[in-house]
Amino acid sequence: MLTSMHAKDEDFDAPILAGDAPSDYERYLRTEELLALQKGPEEWVHRDELLFQVVHQSSELWLKLAASDVEEAARLTETGELAEAARQLRRPLRCLRFGVDQLDMLEELSPWEYQEIRKVLGHGSGFDSPGWRALRAELPRLGQAFHARRRDVGLTLAELYVQRRGHDALYRLAESLVELDEWCQNWRVRHFRVVARVIGDSVVGTQGTPVEVLGRLVQTVVFPELWEVRNELTARSQAEQG
Ligand code: HEM
Repeated sequence: MLTSMHAKDEDFDAPILAGDAPSDYERYLRTEELLALQKGPEEWVHRDELLFQVVHQSSELWLKLAASDVEEAARLTETGELAEAARQLRRPLRCLRFGVDQLDMLEELSPWEYQEIRKVLGHGSGFDSPGWRALRAELPRLGQAFHARRRDVGLTLAELYVQRRGHDALYRLAESLVELDEWCQNWRVRHFRVVARVIGDSVVGTQGTPVEVLGRLVQTVVFPELWEVRNELTARSQAEQG
């Protein structure tokens, strides 16, 4: 009875968390700080700076989450918790999908008016994106941990694919790595197309990089051996038929 009396007396509108913001929603999510991170109208050279900053800042948040979950998946793989690692990797994949999707919003920019915004970006370049850098830095550790577990069971990559039914968790992990690589590539392809649409494909970026370089980076993969094994499997199958 004591609990129901307490519940009745409790003022649910009054904040109880530490902080100065008027509600617990704003205190927990730190919305005052978050919403102060974009330039205000008095600072804009063009009102589309808000669109530009929102897309970039939210991309950084999704990439931060992706990097954190890849780090956890690498740790789980190192300790041999393979099914859990594969489950953990569903999240960075979703983060990358969101990142790809939200690039669409940049196509709402007028290429001519965007030139105004470009003038206030200084030497700012996506190569310095903390989120992208952190994600890319975590992936090799994940790959090394995966190969260590594969070697533990004495399988080559091709054997793992052929005998996948006997090594389900390891096989699923391999496919998660491939999917991550694929979504990093999807992000790069989409980013390259958006850049070409907004500033052109034969110009130089704000840090001096020709946009053509972005086109070439589309080919880069983190786990080439996981792509190469497909060629090996096709060749092996053809050899068995012939
Ligand atoms: C109008 C929108 C955008 C334009 C015109 C643009 C332009 C560029 C250019 C020209 C580069 C080559 C480096 C340089 O700046 O010299 C680059 C790289 C990059 N940008 Fe963007 N970008 C845009 C949006 C975004 C967004 C929303 C993100 C999200 C985080 C992003 C992240 C990156 C990353 C991570 C790289 C390095 C790419 C890699 O390593 O493959 N960019 N961008």
